[in-house]
Amino acid sequence: MIHDNTEFTVTPWKVEGNIDYNKLINQFGTERISNSILNRLEKVTGDIHFMLKRGVFFSHRDLNKILDWYENNGKFFIYTGRGPSGNTHVGHLIPWVLTKWLQEKFGVNVYFQLSDDEKFFANKDATLKSTYQFAYKNAIDFIALGFKPDNTKILINTKNANNLYPIACKIAKKINLSNIRAVFGFTNDTNIGMIFYTAMQSAPCFIEDKPVLIPLGIDQDPHFRITRDIAPKIGKIKPSIIHGMMMPSLTGINTKMSTSIKNSVIYTTDIPNIVKKKINKYAFSGGQSDIKLHREKGGNPSIDIAYQYLRMFFEPNDMKLKKIHDDYTSGKLLSGELKQMTIKKINDFLSSHQKNREKAIEKIDEYMIK
Ligand code: TYM
Repeated sequence: MIHDNTEFTVTPWKVEGNIDYNKLINQFGTERISNSILNRLEKVTGDIHFMLKRGVFFSHRDLNKILDWYENNGKFFIYTGRGPSGNTHVGHLIPWVLTKWLQEKFGVNVYFQLSDDEKFFANKDATLKSTYQFAYKNAIDFIALGFKPDNTKILINTKNANNLYPIACKIAKKINLSNIRAVFGFTNDTNIGMIFYTAMQSAPCFIEDKPVLIPLGIDQDPHFRITRDIAPKIGKIKPSIIHGMMMPSLTGINTKMSTSIKNSVIYTTDIPNIVKKKINKYAFSGGQSDIKLHREKGGNPSIDIAYQYLRMFFEPNDMKLKKIHDDYTSGKLLSGELKQMTIKKINDFLSSHQKNREKAIEKIDEYMIK
């Protein structure tokens, strides 16, 4: 467990405080995504996704090794997931959009795990029925991003236990209580479902007999630190991982967007007026207190939530983003104007995503592992 009293906490179940991503790289023992690895990736894929270029994906484990494998042996596969505790928010889409891009570039299979068991164990009020229902709702958002059923498979843990449990058993036998305690800080009150769960999240890493690449938000890394430790013990290659930053809450960069935090979230199902209201009312502004001062001093994009949403996800065009950045910093662009631009960008994205969701609902069974 990483807990820095003065600053931040990052675990799979709690992200709090102003995350210092440089510190996190040291604390977690990951590697920064350097320019040289980006150049290498670009050579293989032909271009580079804006979220990689802008450092939204900033850290990795063994990305070089998976590229070596690809160049020498061919296909690997990709694995990512979602813990179905509620509706999907736009922050969840960050690793999934990169997953889609990587799948297209490398032409590989994708597995998507819905850990309904995890959310049942972790949340006091959750029922197995509610987490199972959210699993289907979340799957719709994943499919809506354009994944195809011939090379994308979805696993719901309680439903696909027959595929996952035998692998999880092999993993569980190599993890002891003190390993789990050291990583997650569990106590005597922690239910044993939580203690076993890492084995279930690890299982899809070995579902094909090939190396795996896992795109995820950095909060999920601790599970895979354990997976990587045990991989050689069960005769498997350590998973490679690519880590994304957490999309911040509407209310400010010191909190992550999370279904469990009030007023922090934009859901993928939000209608235009709701998005407008949320951004206008809650999105923390890096602008000055009045127009005169703003024109003089300019705004601060690094803490401005509307700007950060554009940078991390909603404005893929680098030139447009730069102009917004420069105009905001110089005071030419006001906070209210930046918010209106952001509302439009989010609503344009959501309007097409919501149409794709409708189509996805009908196709969901094609993606489920039988
Ligand atoms: P979950 O449901 O919390 O999140 C799903 C994915 O979204 C990432 N994420 C975010 N990314 C950016 N900004 C945010 N505000 C934000 N909130 C969440 C998470 O890091 C994750 O990648 N235990 C997992 C489910 C899971 C999984 C996996 C995730 C099962 N197998 C394999 C990644 C890879 C969970 O509860 O994720």
